[in-house]
Amino acid sequence: MDGNGRWANRRGLARTAGHTEGEENLAALVRVAVTRNVGWLTVFGFSTENWVRPRPEVRHILGLHRKLFGRVAELNELNVRIQWMGRPFDSPQARTPKFVQRAIRTAIAETAANTGMVLTVAFDYGSRTELIHAAEQAVAAGETITEASITSHLYLPELPPVDILVRTSGELRISNFMLWQIAGAKVYFTERTWPEFDGAELDAALALRSPA
Ligand code: IPE
Ligand code: MG
Repeated sequence: MDGNGRWANRRGLARTAGHTEGEENLAALVRVAVTRNVGWLTVFGFSTENWVRPRPEVRHILGLHRKLFGRVAELNELNVRIQWMGRPFDSPQARTPKFVQRAIRTAIAETAANTGMVLTVAFDYGSRTELIHAAEQAVAAGETITEASITSHLYLPELPPVDILVRTSGELRISNFMLWQIAGAKVYFTERTWPEFDGAELDAALALRSPA
């Protein structure tokens, strides 16, 4: 969900205001996505590399993730099941603070019975770290390394391969996001920043879907 800072800068606002707007936009976009029969929506909320940002900005983003995972009533109204992926809380390098962990666990538990769209939020996530973790798990289980064994040890093995990858803010590059899962994905590039990514943008991205 790139471009919150630029959205704010262009309006003479603090970067934190851009993050607040970005979180609101995600809530709005989830509402639209369920009407478009999107089965799986996975968003990059915070990366393993983002911890070096100024403390006040990181604190603000943490609070917004607590708010996001706190939207249980809305998610239940929409029949959306929420998931999280990132460095497991018990791993030595994990950075997710306890108050965000609690919000994540509660949201997952309280939306677990929903049968509609699965919204996955990547937080304290890095794709290379995920792949190292998957390989280590496979080795520890005594498995031969194959595509199937790596896939089965990803943070969320239930996630299907990515159909469409969206890049906002005019960024014509791939980031450290789902590198294994995006093989073969269509890519939708837009100049719009994340807070400006609306239903029309979603429809333009979904137009890349292969005919069923
Ligand atoms: C995305 O917006 C939010 C996070 C990475 C947490 P940015 O903060 O990267 O916004 P820009 O790239 O500076 O515009
Ligand atoms: Mg950015």
